[in-house]
Amino acid sequence: MPGIVVVGLQWGDEGKGKVSAYLARGASLAVRFNGGANAGHTVTLPDRTLSLHMLPAAAISTKSAAIGHGVYLDIEEMLRDIAKLEEAVGKVGVVVSPRAHLVTPLQVGLDAKIEEMRGGGSIGTTRRGIGPTALHKYGRLGLRLCDVLDGADVGDLVKVWMRLWGGVIPFNPEEVLAKVRGLAEQVRGMVGDVSSLIRTHLASGGTVIFEGAQGTMLDIDHGTYPYVTSSHTTSAAAAIGSGVGLKSINIVVGVAKAYTTRVGAGPFPTEISGPVADVIRERGSEYGATTGRPRRIGWLDMPQLRYACMLNDTDQIFLTRVDTLSGLERVKLCVKYEGVGEPYPETVEALRSVKPVYLEMEGWPRIDEAERERLRLEGYGALHRAARRYLEKVEEELGTAVKYIGIGPGIMDVIVK
Ligand code: GDP
Ligand code: IMO
Ligand code: MG
Repeated sequence: MPGIVVVGLQWGDEGKGKVSAYLARGASLAVRFNGGANAGHTVTLPDRTLSLHMLPAAAISTKSAAIGHGVYLDIEEMLRDIAKLEEAVGKVGVVVSPRAHLVTPLQVGLDAKIEEMRGGGSIGTTRRGIGPTALHKYGRLGLRLCDVLDGADVGDLVKVWMRLWGGVIPFNPEEVLAKVRGLAEQVRGMVGDVSSLIRTHLASGGTVIFEGAQGTMLDIDHGTYPYVTSSHTTSAAAAIGSGVGLKSINIVVGVAKAYTTRVGAGPFPTEISGPVADVIRERGSEYGATTGRPRRIGWLDMPQLRYACMLNDTDQIFLTRVDTLSGLERVKLCVKYEGVGEPYPETVEALRSVKPVYLEMEGWPRIDEAERERLRLEGYGALHRAARRYLEKVEEELGTAVKYIGIGPGIMDVIVK
């Protein structure tokens, strides 16, 4: 009766959606517990490619999804996701926690405004209202789904919002409330107790996939603050954000790319630019699923991943995009930062000044569709020896098993080691 958590070990976009959909075959429930519509989880099915923002991509396999209270709920995005998903896979059951905090046009407007105010120091947010929704939630000024549905008197709250923000951005409280009430009514039938639902699935022997959003280095506490998101993104967040205890989580699968990407501003020790970065970006279509921005590219970073593996108590690593990194003569692996040991540097300044020490390794031949087919059939042993050497070096450096290897965007483009 396992609870399996899937978390990103880098700066997001590691392939959590595809990995979750893969691991959820045979599972009974898919749960989102953090983040909001800033997430973009893309899964390639035989007949289409789906990008989901509010629903867990694992629901492609389970047909049953829950959104915990830890998620910043954007109802319009969720309704769009449901329509997209149902068109692709048929009816999907969705349960939403009444305690989820709502993202309203006020928070979305503030997100853009605060970014503008920061000028050159902007975070590069997805502008989905995440930071301001968190600001309201933790300042005890948030609006939850249940407050809107139960007809609670939110007049005083909105008055405070007006006094705080009325002079900052255009804000019409009646309009915002009317919009939110209308949207909340559309999801009234989906509201339910996510915590009990998960327990029921686990108690009856089902497997539950907790699909994380973002990545460890974007965690509000552990990440590269302030260039982070406004959620917890590590495995422990699965418990907090869905309403279960730590004992409901049995396996932690950490997802990392075979290289590193980051979208948005902030330090990135192994970032590269030039022809190799361009080849990886174009070959891998490394553009954000939520904003379309080009993703920054870098080599795989062992100090960063060691830190992430530790924070998440990672049991197994799913290393995606070994195919995207194929076809290069040489590849590099950052094994340490010159003169820097543990703990992982805390400040942006420190991270901006670290000098990665690289181990240069032999690359492996291009993994194209024909090679992918062969690898799917023949498995790990058929992978080119240079790729195996790279993966084994990663395992050795991290002290954590690389159990799954991604060789393409399709759900079944996976080698199990
Ligand atoms: P997420 O946010 O962690 O779910 O990741 P995204 O969906 O934003 O970005 C990952 C992209 O990589 C998606 O387009 C996936 O389809 C794709 N992907 C995942 N695993 C692999 C892989 O092993 N190989 C290739 N070529 N693409 C992959
Ligand atoms: P998934 O789940 C990659 C980044 C933004 C920005 C910072 C803060 O698809 O991996 P926010 O809108 O959250 O206030 O932006 O975090 N970011 C992501 N980067 N993948 C994501 O989600 C992200 N969600 C937020 O680019 O740098
Ligand atoms: Mg993404």
